[in-house]
Amino acid sequence: MAIKHYLQFSDFSLDEYEYVIERSRLIKRKFKNYEPHYTLLDRTLVMVFEKNSTRTRLSFEAGMHQLGGAAIYLNTRDSQLGRGEPVEDAAQVMSRMCDVIMIRTFGQDIIERFATHSRVPVINGLTNEQHPCQVLADVFTYIEHRGSIAGKKVAWVGDANNMLYSWLQAAQVFGFHVNVSTPKGYDIDPGQVAADNQRYTFFANPSDACEGADLVTTDVWTSMGYEDENAARLKAFDGWIVDQAKMQRAQPDALFMHCLPAHRGEEVSAEVIDGPQSVVWDEAENRLHVQKALLEYLVLGKVD
Ligand code: CP
Ligand code: NVA
Repeated sequence: MAIKHYLQFSDFSLDEYEYVIERSRLIKRKFKNYEPHYTLLDRTLVMVFEKNSTRTRLSFEAGMHQLGGAAIYLNTRDSQLGRGEPVEDAAQVMSRMCDVIMIRTFGQDIIERFATHSRVPVINGLTNEQHPCQVLADVFTYIEHRGSIAGKKVAWVGDANNMLYSWLQAAQVFGFHVNVSTPKGYDIDPGQVAADNQRYTFFANPSDACEGADLVTTDVWTSMGYEDENAARLKAFDGWIVDQAKMQRAQPDALFMHCLPAHRGEEVSAEVIDGPQSVVWDEAENRLHVQKALLEYLVLGKVD
C-alpha cells in the first residue's frame, strides 16, 4: 500500500480531515483530563529542522511523548544534511530507523524528494510554499470557537507566503472563501494555487479585504529565508497592518489569527493581537492536539 504523507494541505480529503478533527477533539480532552492516550507506544518520530522553530518543535516533541513514543531532533548544523548529504540518502537512512518523519525546510521540492525516498510517512513542518500543520490547527481553532467553517469568509492581509497558500488549499477542501490582499510586487504566485481554485478574491485595498470577514488573519512580512528583503518589505507593506480599523470592517464577532511569531506594530497592532477577538494562543496550543491526531492517523490509519 502507498505510504500516506502530509506534504501540503490538499493531501487529505474532507473525510480524512473530519476524522482527524474528531480525533483531535478527543485527544485534547484526554490531555486536559490527564487521561493516558498512548496510541504510539514505542514509535519514533524524527524531526529535521533546516529553519528555526519554537511551536513546531515543541508541539511535535511533546505530542510524541504524550502518545507514548519518542521524538529525535536533528538540524542542519549538526547532521550530515548540513554537509551536503543528499536528501534522497538521508530519507533512506532515517526512514529505516523510525516510524514517521517531520521536516522543516526551504523548497517544497526538497520535502517531495525526501518523501519519494522515505519508507515512512513524511510531514511538512513548514516549507517556503506550505505550512499545512499550522492551517490545520487554525481550521480546528475556528471550528472550536464558531462551528463549521464551510461558507465562511476569511480575510488574508499580508504576504503571499506559505501560510496563504495553505489557507487557499484549505478553502477548497472545506468550502470557504478567502479575501486576499497583498501589496504590489508581493502578489500571489499563480504556480502555487490550483488552476481550479475559485475560493479566493484579490483586493488591492487591505481594508476592503476585511469587509464582512468571519476571520481576519495575517503573518510576518518577512518569512524565514527572505531576511535579505526585510528593509524593502517593511516599505512595501506599509498600510497592510491588521489594526482595529480593519477589524471593524469585519463581522462584529470576527476572530483574529496569526500563526506566530508576531511583530506588534508591523503586520498586526498590539491592540488586535492582544485584544478580545484574537485567538492566537489557542491556535498555538492546538498545534499540539491536531498534530497528535495527524501522527496517529499517518502511522496507524483510522483507529476507531
Ligand atoms: N507557527 C510556527 O510554525 O511557529 P514556529 O516557527 O515557532 O514553529
Ligand atoms: N511565514 C512564516 C511562518 C513562520 C511560522 C515563515 O515561513 O517564516
